[in-house]
Amino acid sequence: MTAQAGICAEPNLHAYYLMLDILPGQYRAVTEALTTVPTLWQGLATRYPDANFSGLVAIGSDAWDELYPHARPNELTSFPAQHQGQRVAPDTPFDLFFQLRSDRLDVAYIAMQEVMALLAKRVELKDERQGFRYLDCRDMTGFVDGTENPQGPDRAQVALVQEGLFIDGSYVHVQHYQHRMARWEKLKVNAQEAIYGRTKADNIEYESADKAPTAHTKRTSLKDEQGHSLEILRQSMPWGSANAQGLVFISCCNTPRHFTRMLDNMFVPDVQGHFDHLTLFTQAQTGAAFFAPSQEWLSSKGGLNKP
Ligand code: HEM
Repeated sequence: MTAQAGICAEPNLHAYYLMLDILPGQYRAVTEALTTVPTLWQGLATRYPDANFSGLVAIGSDAWDELYPHARPNELTSFPAQHQGQRVAPDTPFDLFFQLRSDRLDVAYIAMQEVMALLAKRVELKDERQGFRYLDCRDMTGFVDGTENPQGPDRAQVALVQEGLFIDGSYVHVQHYQHRMARWEKLKVNAQEAIYGRTKADNIEYESADKAPTAHTKRTSLKDEQGHSLEILRQSMPWGSANAQGLVFISCCNTPRHFTRMLDNMFVPDVQGHFDHLTLFTQAQTGAAFFAPSQEWLSSKGGLNKP
């Protein structure tokens, strides 16, 4: 099987993100339209070879059974929301998520127009966002983001389901974060560094013993009972407008459990009362869970049509 290229894509320059809901009575037509998506991705990559285009469509937990009633990824559930006073990570479900990435903004834009033409009158656009590389792959808080991501063949190992009916698919979680920049910028650089557990200018990781129990990299570095690291592949990119900025956070993984554990560890205070202090400086506006099936799954309506 062939994974959609956007799941393991290397970082690049531009992205459009679309969140869509399917209109009543249009599920069958959408399943049909999605059969052509792998050809659409291929066509863009062939027409614009310099653009490094990658596409990704992922199906929301609620919409899955309507689109593919005969089989469901067994771990696909709704977004694992968090509510800790003012620190919240809401569950805001959407039926479809498109990630359209390219080194050329015009090509990402053409991809967005082609997706909207394909699904015209069948979907409602719920959210549209543009992501871009900021400086040397930094988040808007000024820190390099993505350093500890899996590299090379590990990306596929971490991000893709390795066996069974849903092989080469991926569990995808997306959150739009808006940063509380005025608050963040009041902090001295060493206080910001303590919140991440990394230095700002040269992106050096603190020794584990020097990391605060509230540091973001401490709270998201987790192990299972056997001592294996729980990993995710982050495909996040910053977004920004004249008066607001943040991160489109995207996790791709062969199970939703790793993301769920990390989010829990960021938000829920431990027995000492520690939680991830990054959550004091950014606010999740949306949160949705999806599954991104293989290209063959899409083109064959989940195996009902042999491609
Ligand atoms: C606005 C929200 C977020 C921002 C700005 C942010 C930013 C960062 C930065 C700058 C790093 C350090 C460099 C790196 O390895 O990438 C990092 C690491 C990491 N983040 Fe986040 N992050 C956010 C949300 C999340 C969420 C929601 C999760 C998972 C639930 C997560 C999981 C991780 C993981 C697993 C690491 C690597 C930890 C390590 O092994 O050192 N992050 N993040």
